[in-house]
Amino acid sequence: MFRAGRDSRAQIARLYRPAPNGGHFRPIFRLQSDGGAGNITRGTADPLTGTVPIPGRGVVVGAGEVVAEENQAMLNETEAAAGAMEEPSTEGTATAIQFANDEHPAAEGELTGRKSFVDDFAGYRALRRRIEDVERTGQSVPFFQPRDGVSHSVIRRQDKSLINYSGYNYLGLSGHPAVSAAAKNAIDKYGTSVSASRIVSGQIELHSELEKRLANFLGTEDALVFISGYLTNVSVISQLLARPDAVIYDSGAHNSIITGARLSGAKTFTYENGDWTALDKIMKKERASFRRGLLVCEGIYSMDGQILDLPRAVESKNRHDLLLMVDEAHSLGNVGLTGRGVCEAYSLPASVIDVHMGTLSKTLASSGGYIAGDRGLMEYMRFLCPGLIFSVGLSPPDTAAAIAALDILEREPHRPKRLRERSRYFRQLAREYGLEMGGDEESPVSSLIVGDDKKTFHLSKRLFDQGIDVQPIVRPAVSADTARLRFFITANHTEEQLKATIPLVAKELDYVRRHDA
Ligand SMILES: Cc1ncc(COP(=O)(O)O)c(C=O)c1O
Repeated sequence: MFRAGRDSRAQIARLYRPAPNGGHFRPIFRLQSDGGAGNITRGTADPLTGTVPIPGRGVVVGAGEVVAEENQAMLNETEAAAGAMEEPSTEGTATAIQFANDEHPAAEGELTGRKSFVDDFAGYRALRRRIEDVERTGQSVPFFQPRDGVSHSVIRRQDKSLINYSGYNYLGLSGHPAVSAAAKNAIDKYGTSVSASRIVSGQIELHSELEKRLANFLGTEDALVFISGYLTNVSVISQLLARPDAVIYDSGAHNSIITGARLSGAKTFTYENGDWTALDKIMKKERASFRRGLLVCEGIYSMDGQILDLPRAVESKNRHDLLLMVDEAHSLGNVGLTGRGVCEAYSLPASVIDVHMGTLSKTLASSGGYIAGDRGLMEYMRFLCPGLIFSVGLSPPDTAAAIAALDILEREPHRPKRLRERSRYFRQLAREYGLEMGGDEESPVSSLIVGDDKKTFHLSKRLFDQGIDVQPIVRPAVSADTARLRFFITANHTEEQLKATIPLVAKELDYVRRHDA
């Protein structure tokens, strides 16, 4: 049974019970909600109606999954359609349950005209509505579009070459001959997979080499690599903290941080990105209510592009007796004179951060994630972090590619320098054309807020037609009113490419604002 978290407020557990005729298992669903008053209420799905009665609060119907707060509207809609709510729930954000009959799925599908068992899931229905909304305007959904070749400053899509702002190959190391050669050599030596989790028999020499190199680069005692950056946050945060603890993050936090925090069972506290006074206020009030607190920040925020004010984060950590984790997915290799990240940028020792985290998928031209810090933390995670011990080891080509990329980064510090110059130049040009680009001056993540999904899709499409590939970012990655184009600047963009881009963006933004309702 899931327990209702502080901000998830209601959750569903799917349990399995043997079907009466034996052989198959049929799902039943339970809902547990804090009901807004701290009272835990529970309900078990009625197998015939698929509804969950909540004593004193009516009935919840819908699709069985945990849904975030923004989906309250969907829940209300589902409930209204079913006419089943005795009183409106202001707190329950989860939707439950269309009972799926596992014994006769095809027969039920035929009866209801459903094509897929998710057709009745509220989340899926909302997605379909959004896709249909876009298609009604004559556009196609601009996601999962195939592309060719390496994601350099130019990219090939639909047989067109476009100036590329859609990839985070920040230093141009994906596709670098030395990086590709290292990956190929590793395949020749070890194959394409280590074919086991590292704790069992998946450990290869390259793993320790990469970890030593990362620790050395960052100035920490040790490091540990995982097969995915996303998984690193989820698994490490949820292993480190537990119920009497708290995870504190801001409004710009990446989904992997939020998911890790929720999974941990710890309390969560959030504050507006960059509002350190708000953080202080919350901590003054709440610090006594939890045991350990992990403050999680990002070196460069992946949506808005701000660079972390590390001294302020350290001040908060010290003032409120917290642990500090910094996700350097976008700042490793970019921030600091030689790309060593936020500690280098502020001339602070690596030890001010308790958990260094980063990804191998951006500047390091590979795939995977890492944490770095003291030996005890690494030993704890190496033996007990589920995302490491229950998952295959990082693949040989990925590991070798990251080592080779790190070699180049260490040898060629002009790359991060050039990236910072390009980022500054891009913003300077934008200002000249009256465009408000979000993010810090030297940040390679640059967001242009459009404020509406459809206009953002349209603007992206019009730019695509004129040779520029920049992706729209919409809900749930950002809030609906901050739908945006996000430009990733790379060290390989030329000044000419940037100069060609900005006037077009200004012209097309103006067009979309004037013509789209
Ligand atoms: C801040 C942040 N953390 C973690 C991740 C997950 O990393 P990966 O895509 O390498 O799994 C991302 C993804 O872009 C990110 O932006």
